[in-house]
Amino acid sequence: ALPDFVTIVEVGPRDGLQNEPTRVPVDTKVALIDSLADAGLRVIEAGAFVSPKWVPQMADTDAVLARIKRPAGVRFPVLVPNEKGMAAAEAAEGVHEIAVFGAASEAFSKKNINCSVAESLERFRPVVARAREHGWRVRGYVSCVLGCPYQGAVTPEAVAAVARDLHAMGCDEISLGDTIGVGTPLAARRMIEAVAAHVPVERLAAHFHDTYGQALANLLAVLELGVPTVDTSVAGLGGCPYAKGASGNVATEDVIFMLDGMGIHTGVSLQRVAEAGRAISESLGREPTSRVAQALRSA
Ligand code: HMG
Ligand code: MG
Repeated sequence: ALPDFVTIVEVGPRDGLQNEPTRVPVDTKVALIDSLADAGLRVIEAGAFVSPKWVPQMADTDAVLARIKRPAGVRFPVLVPNEKGMAAAEAAEGVHEIAVFGAASEAFSKKNINCSVAESLERFRPVVARAREHGWRVRGYVSCVLGCPYQGAVTPEAVAAVARDLHAMGCDEISLGDTIGVGTPLAARRMIEAVAAHVPVERLAAHFHDTYGQALANLLAVLELGVPTVDTSVAGLGGCPYAKGASGNVATEDVIFMLDGMGIHTGVSLQRVAEAGRAISESLGREPTSRVAQALRSA
C-alpha cells in the first residue's frame, strides 16, 4: 500500500553542492536554502562539518547556518563524521540535527572517510551519544547499498548489518544510499526487506542517485514497502566526490511531479521548487538535469 504523505529530505545544498569544482558563495547557498524552505521543504540538509581538505565546498557550513532564515517547523541537519565535526556542529548556530555517514562497503568507507566500516561505527558511537544528550535528532546514512564503485556487488545482508548497528547506537532514521545509482527496482526492494528485518521500515529513508535513470522506478518499488521518507536534490544537483562517475540525487522536481500525480502529499510546491532549481542552476551556469524542470521551462 502506498502512503498518503511522503517526507522529502532536500539534500541539494549538501550532496548537490559538495562536489562543485568552483566555490559556491555563501550568499548563493543561503538564497538556495531560503528558497527551498519557501517552496515547502521541511527538512533541508544545510552542509557538512567534514575536513576542508577533503571537501572544500562545505568549509563554509558555519557561515551558511548563521545566515539562513529559520521558518518554524523547518529542520536543517548537517553531516558530522567524527568528534571534531561534532565540536564544530556544537559551536555553530542552530544545529539541532546531525547525520553520521557510514557505508556497506569496506572499500568505499576507506575512500570516503578513511577508515574501515567497524572503525567508522566506533567513531560514530560517541558522536551519536552526545547528540542524543543534547536532544538532537540523528540520522545514519549507509552508502553503497545497491553497489560500490570500488568493490562492485554489495549484499542486502551487509547493508542490513550496518543499518542495524546505526539504529542500535541511537540513530532515529537510517538513510539508505544508492551512491552510484546502479540499483534496479527488485534489488532495491530486496535490500529494503533485508534492512526492515532489523530496523522498523518507518525509520528508513531512500537516498537514490539517478546515474542510470532508475531512481524513480526504485523509489516507487520501495514506497510500496512503506518507506516514508525520500531524499532528493533540487535540479538533480550533485554527485559524491569519493564515488567517481556518480551523478546527482534524484531531482526534487521529478519526485514531486511523480508523487503529485499519484495523489501522495509532500507539502512541497512543484512550481516553487522548480524556480529554486532554475535559480541555482543559473548561478552554476548550467541547465537543471531534472526532466520535469526542463519540461516545465518549455511548457
Ligand atoms: P582523516 O584524514 O582520516 O582524519 O579524515 P584525521 O582525524 O586523521 O584528521 C586529519 C586532518 O583533518 C586534521 O587536520 C584534522 O584536524 C582534520 P590537519 O591536522 O591535517 O590540518 N579533520 C577535520 N577538519 C574538519 N572537520 C572535521 C575533521 N576531522 C578531521 N570533521 C575525515 C577523516 C572523515 C575527516 C575525512 O575523511 C573527511 O572529511 N571526509 C569527507 C567525507 C565526505 O564529506 N564525503 C561526502 C559526504 S558522504 C556522501 O556524499 C554519501 C551520502 O550522500 C549517501 C550516499 O549517497 O550514499 C551521505
Ligand atoms: Mg548521496
